[in-house]
Amino acid sequence: YQPTKLAADEGLFKTETGAPMVVFGIVDEKNQQVKYAIEIPKLLSWLAFGDWNAKVLGLHDAAKYVWYQQVLNNPNYANEKVKKQVVDSIMKAYGVNPNDPNANEKMVKVLEDALPVAFMFYAYRVMVGLGTLFILIGLVGVLLLLLGKLYDARWFLKVLVVTVPLPWLAGEAGWFTHEVGRQPWMVWGMVTVNNGASPNVSTTSVLITLIGFVVVYSILFYIWLHFVRKLIREGPEPVEGDVTSKPAPAVSVAGGGQ
Ligand code: HEM
Repeated sequence: YQPTKLAADEGLFKTETGAPMVVFGIVDEKNQQVKYAIEIPKLLSWLAFGDWNAKVLGLHDAAKYVWYQQVLNNPNYANEKVKKQVVDSIMKAYGVNPNDPNANEKMVKVLEDALPVAFMFYAYRVMVGLGTLFILIGLVGVLLLLLGKLYDARWFLKVLVVTVPLPWLAGEAGWFTHEVGRQPWMVWGMVTVNNGASPNVSTTSVLITLIGFVVVYSILFYIWLHFVRKLIREGPEPVEGDVTSKPAPAVSVAGGGQ
């Protein structure tokens, strides 16, 4: 549904049939290519369309498709007059004169330039990479539990501690993928973000709200850190009747058990 986002997520500059999925690579935006790409052949076509040989649009062709098919041929308008008003206002928001004979090509360029491909490509891979890592960690945890070694495997417990902040990172990366990838649309093909921003909300109001959020979340973060620290100091409670856990150590931890 959002072919420019797909192209940017995958660093796909040129349209391909049987497009591969790039596991990792270095995006070279200037030369419009992904260097040192590690690819799985045809997988992107299958993931996107359920067909190993489906055509996946590259960024330029995707921008063309969005403008000509999803904007100019959008069937959701009451009539042609309303549609023209909306399309003209989108063009004007980007300094394109609707009467310019090249107006449509200029809008394709606007849509193409709205997406920072390298940023999208990496953000998407941070999310999916971490998601895959979480699945693997879960599987290793289950395996260790079944072997009765979960609570003795210090190396694994250390890995778990290090991974605590990673779901937040994955969530932010996923959100970037979603929000940056839909640019410049607020409502896909109809309302752009700059047309949709409310003129009644001043920059100062936005700034004050943002500062409010930062303050409230910083306080919550501090409280969270405080409680996590307390829980760690107290140590785990012994689990009764659990054959996979070790008996609780007889040594009492300072400040614990009160
Ligand atoms: C194998 C792992 C994963 C895959 C294949 C995957 C795939 C996706 C896809 C396709 C999108 C939609 C992007 C878009 O079109 O807007 C998305 C969005 C998102 N993902 Fe992931 N993801 C994975 C793991 C994760 C993990 C582990 C997290 C967080 C802990 C996460 C958080 C998000 C968030 C917050 C969004 C944006 C949702 C929204 O605002 O609509 N993802 N993901």
